Amino acid sequence: MRKTLGVLAVTAVFIMTYGCVANENKDEILIGELGSLTGTTATFGQSTHHGLELAVEETNNAGGVLGKKITLLVEDDQSKPEEAATAVTKLITRDNVRAIIGEVASSRSLAAAPICQQFQIPMVSPASTNPEVTRKGDYIFRVCYIDPFQGEILAKFMYNSLGLRKAAILKDVKNDYSMGLAQFFHETFTALGGSVVAEQAYSEGDSDFRAQLTALKAAEPEAIFVPGYYIEAALIVKQARELNMTMPMLGGDGWDSSKLLEVGGESLNNTYFSTHYSVDDTSTAVQNFVAKYRSRFQEIPDAMAALGYDAGLILFDAIRRAESVEGPAIRDALAATENFSGVTGKITIDQDRNARKSLVIISVADGALKYRETIQP
Ligand code: PHE
Repeated sequence: MRKTLGVLAVTAVFIMTYGCVANENKDEILIGELGSLTGTTATFGQSTHHGLELAVEETNNAGGVLGKKITLLVEDDQSKPEEAATAVTKLITRDNVRAIIGEVASSRSLAAAPICQQFQIPMVSPASTNPEVTRKGDYIFRVCYIDPFQGEILAKFMYNSLGLRKAAILKDVKNDYSMGLAQFFHETFTALGGSVVAEQAYSEGDSDFRAQLTALKAAEPEAIFVPGYYIEAALIVKQARELNMTMPMLGGDGWDSSKLLEVGGESLNNTYFSTHYSVDDTSTAVQNFVAKYRSRFQEIPDAMAALGYDAGLILFDAIRRAESVEGPAIRDALAATENFSGVTGKITIDQDRNARKSLVIISVADGALKYRETIQP
């Protein structure tokens, strides 16, 4: 007993003196991944994880970073913001990771970011697009575009490319991404001269949207904008078609999942959504990545997989340039990222720690996804 107390006391002094207990052995660099491996948006976490695993394996096979190998520690947040806060705290205070990759969903990144900031652990979100995420502090980065841009492009697409003037919106009130994207779409669409004739709300996890859809139908919109995640989006489109609402329906990057078509099937025809890259892009960067990913995981990489891969490579590149694994040094190197050639395009981190990047529009026709166009910022 006395001995145990002694060990505890020594450990406590050590923690107080050095701030942490080092778990890392001298030949490795510990990186934490925060993701939704289970729960309502499990494909987000799983795809990101696969992309990231590929980046880690390639990097380690090529000799690692600063002569050490990257060890990835993964925590599942079950698609819940509260769990994201707990999981990221564990990665930082228990595992002593050097940096965090994650989260994908903006609400979860918003929960995790203040904790990374507090501990001066750089966080790189592969795919959170809500503008507030990187405003949580100077340790918070992302490698994707943000929703003021995404909302603007979708509004212009509906107004100019589809030539539609009356829109309705069905948004997820429990989801920061959905609320923000709805607002940015609304602003541009009305500024262009269009009108939003009806708005309705739901909450993540809902499965019956008939009441909201019936209310929207009464306002006779020419198109419906559904800024949400893939499961609800697919069910919304399906139920709209059952109610004889045949108009075009549009979404943002939250629709990008192999589950979208699995759940929605043919009812998804005449829908459009924006995302970060397309497997049909003929560039060598994309085609090489798709080939490697398919042979490693026997599946086609969605946008999240590509962004997970890019987020990993950008972080490892920053650690190399920093020549250090300390938070402040990695932070400075991340902030200086310029013209990094990613699978999802050229990535430069701007002064707000966001990436200015092109956006891809996908349409669904004949039960399949079709690449439509790439829009530059
Ligand atoms: N942009 C979404 C968010 O911020 C997450 C997402 C990215 C979902 C890419 C799908 C594809 O919540």
